[in-house]
Amino acid sequence: MIPFFDLSRQHAAMGKALTDPVGKVLVSGCCVLGPEVQSLEADIAKVCGASYAFGVSNGTDALAVALTACGIGRHDEVVTTPFTFLATASAIARIGAKPVFADVDPITLNIDPAAAESVCTRRTRALLPVHLFGLPCDLESFVGIARSRGIRLLEDTAQAFGAVHSGKPLGSWGDAGCFSFYPTKVLGAAGDAGAIATSDLEIASHVQRLRVHGTGADGLHCDLGGNFRIDAIQAAVLRAKMPLFQGWLQARERHARAYQEALAGTDFALPADSPGRVWSQFCIRHPRRDDVRQFLLAKGIATAVYYPVSLHLQPCFSGLGYRSGDFPNAELASREILALPLFPELHDDERDATIQALREFDRGSR
Ligand SMILES: Cc1ncc(COP(=O)(O)O)c(C=O)c1O
Repeated sequence: MIPFFDLSRQHAAMGKALTDPVGKVLVSGCCVLGPEVQSLEADIAKVCGASYAFGVSNGTDALAVALTACGIGRHDEVVTTPFTFLATASAIARIGAKPVFADVDPITLNIDPAAAESVCTRRTRALLPVHLFGLPCDLESFVGIARSRGIRLLEDTAQAFGAVHSGKPLGSWGDAGCFSFYPTKVLGAAGDAGAIATSDLEIASHVQRLRVHGTGADGLHCDLGGNFRIDAIQAAVLRAKMPLFQGWLQARERHARAYQEALAGTDFALPADSPGRVWSQFCIRHPRRDDVRQFLLAKGIATAVYYPVSLHLQPCFSGLGYRSGDFPNAELASREILALPLFPELHDDERDATIQALREFDRGSR
């Protein structure tokens, strides 16, 4: 079977470079936050071009904490994309705010800034674009909308750690950038982990308090936070991977270029590109997506569908009152999209076998 993703290859190749730092944490006895986490936070801030970074429990909590630290809460509206992982919108809802969706651009599949602006009301307090599959959003437009309306801009950078747009790292364009280090991400922990990057001192100190039950230096709990701490073991894993990270991004890019070149001229729609993007996924589109997927599976090639149901049609958001047809670009993408195997340790012959199978399907369907 050609795996869609296989983290065990990365971990096996790292060997003691991975297990020694983890062992050191175990021996140190400092298992939550602490010096290992502080060092990781310095590394993350550097990659993101931010003054501060805070490790948190996961990317979902990063979003909820960052929104809260930006003063968003009950009765506020936050504009975001319906074509993303559930967590983007559930984090908004979890803090009592209302997710308001705007359709995506049909080519980039990122939220369309004009559509986003058109759904802003006087209750809109923030924009939350997602850099989907590692492709930067139109940040110049989002910064412009946020400034002109005097609202917050937060970036869901869960899929785009290490990406850059117009020379500026993603996560540093808005008030805060929210990252996930879930194992399948471009930089993956050995469990759940996330981070918030910001250059705003007020947001930074609020995040720091919210992460530990709203605890202030005086021991008083003036905010209702929670337990959003990151484990030192996850920090050690992520720090051990940092020196290898740029090489992994390059390996991903090499596979992505090979897919792009070999599939040009077929009926598959290929993903949008942009200098500085990271290839967290390589997603093609085809009107007969499910047939393509079955065809590949029959040849022993695993794929994935991100995302089969647009968020405005998810049962948990039925109370928001959206209907099928509200966001045609997102809905069509959810029927056509297919993610191919793409990870740094994917073997060239596995990638080429995937290409061959796709070309065979294409020839047979003409
Ligand atoms: C776009 C997006 N936002 C948020 C998250 C949530 O991150 P986590 O799984 O670390 O909670 C993810 C993770 O898959 C994601 O892809």
